[in-house]
Amino acid sequence: MWWILFGLAVAVIVVVTGLMLYGIRRKVPPTDEDDAPGIRLIVVGGFVVPAIVLTILFGLMVRDLGAEARDLDSAQMSIDVIAHQWWWEVRYEGEIVSANEIHIPTGEQVKMNLTTKDVIHSYWVPQLQAKVDMIPGIVNEISLQADDPGVYRGICGEFCGVQHAKMQFLVVAQDPAEFDAWLQNEAAVPATPEDDPGRRAFLESTCAGCHAVAGTEATARLGPDLTHFGGRRTIGAGALPNTEENLAAWILDAQQAKPGNEMPPSPVTEGELGSIVDYLMGLD
Ligand code: CUA
Repeated sequence: MWWILFGLAVAVIVVVTGLMLYGIRRKVPPTDEDDAPGIRLIVVGGFVVPAIVLTILFGLMVRDLGAEARDLDSAQMSIDVIAHQWWWEVRYEGEIVSANEIHIPTGEQVKMNLTTKDVIHSYWVPQLQAKVDMIPGIVNEISLQADDPGVYRGICGEFCGVQHAKMQFLVVAQDPAEFDAWLQNEAAVPATPEDDPGRRAFLESTCAGCHAVAGTEATARLGPDLTHFGGRRTIGAGALPNTEENLAAWILDAQQAKPGNEMPPSPVTEGELGSIVDYLMGLD
């Protein structure tokens, strides 16, 4: 569809520019006899041709939309994506919870159920699909397919508040076998021992008031689930690359990197900070 529209637009520009240049260069002043074909040109070029072209394009659009609806029915797996100010909650098979990074298998249709917890957002992975609004109380379904493995950038496509620009995510497309292994790992509870100092500091600090880690007493859903945080590529929905330094700075005062976000500065000692960083990075 894109190439058809592009080709038509180029053809229109060439024809219009050509006519314009012809008119500019024409030396002979127009006479009354020239007026008759002029009107015919306007009627044919201005009404008949556009009517035919737009009707054909409309037919092509309807055909493509129908194909997309069929794709929804044939999708083998579905993923729930729930927008929050300003991050993305991701649920696989309703059970496995993650955030800000969506893994999909390559070569198959994946259905996405899109909605939002607060204001209107828009789900947009430019390389894979068109923008789809995420509207409170409504679940919009789309299907998308990545043919090649890779990391595709996604962004919120609808202004949704002060950190709209840092409401980003990644779609990681993997070979089906690799994806299955990833999903199995994602479903597993991390095996951090209960007396791990980082785990203890995490559970006793303000962190556990908003974040969940499967297998621990931390079950809050205000912020992103951190069960497999260490395996993710970014912090704060694309605000920073996921490194130990960035994570420490983020925990101390997330307002520096992403002003206005819901995470307050954390009152932790330097020792606690170090062990919490080690703990979270170990959750992969
Ligand atoms: Cu969410 Cu813009």
